[in-house]
Amino acid sequence: MLVNTKEMLLDAKRNHYAVPHFNINNLEWTKYILEKSEELKIPVILGVSEGAAKYIGGYHTVVSIVTGLMKDLGITVPVAIHLDHGSSIDSCLKAIDAGFTSVMIDASKYPLDENINITKKVVDYAHQKGVSVEAEVGHIGGTEDNITGTSLNATLGDCITLYKSTGIDSIAPALGSVHGFYQGEPNLDFVMMRRINETLPIPLVLHGGTGIPNYDIEKAIECGIAKININTDLQAVWSKAVRNFLLKDEKVYDPRKVIGSGEDSIKQRIEEIVVLFQTKRG
Ligand code: 13P
Repeated sequence: MLVNTKEMLLDAKRNHYAVPHFNINNLEWTKYILEKSEELKIPVILGVSEGAAKYIGGYHTVVSIVTGLMKDLGITVPVAIHLDHGSSIDSCLKAIDAGFTSVMIDASKYPLDENINITKKVVDYAHQKGVSVEAEVGHIGGTEDNITGTSLNATLGDCITLYKSTGIDSIAPALGSVHGFYQGEPNLDFVMMRRINETLPIPLVLHGGTGIPNYDIEKAIECGIAKININTDLQAVWSKAVRNFLLKDEKVYDPRKVIGSGEDSIKQRIEEIVVLFQTKRG
């Protein structure tokens, strides 16, 4: 069932678990994630960065792949197609028009007033079409696709102002996580995370899920995180499996075998992540 993220994330916030957001890169990954989510009977968010959408062919192609697979594979669990780090109003509107059920508008590089103006325009359009909107406050650092930069933590005041001025459905406050692998241990601001969660009625999103130790993931969920974004982790797991496969068999040339050699590793890792995200479930 194709849905927006609103209900699934509110349920996660109420019941102390996190819905996984897995970034997709191609048809095969989408298929693996959908199959595993159906097997585990969990709602799932397919995160699509602008770079990944371009690589796949465009927003319409992404939607066709997801809806086609859902039909052919008989997927019954709730699935959201979510634009990850939409960089402009235009990009978000195009994704919505193509059939995305959820978008993130990331105007976090602008001053708060400008972030609010941009986010509000996306919310107004998205809500007319039943599409949910996530926005970012502060700035999540690290490297991912074309997103780079240093972190700037969110303040409670800015989170309240952004929420009240825009009516967003979920919020991604920068609280020390980064995209990609961490240099050393992550240093998440759990006190602020809990305060934001207790103050706002909307669910909190944690970006940069890769490399955060399990105990910190559990603590983040306890503090109110309802959606956790995972990208690099699955990329690393898949690449390792494919690299080993190619090293073992120098004669293989069938792309289905090459790409598919990462399937079991991705699926196993998804299961571990899903179990971790559900440990505190009430
Ligand atoms: P990682 O690549 O660190 O898992 O972060 C993913 C993410 O936050 C996507 O928005």
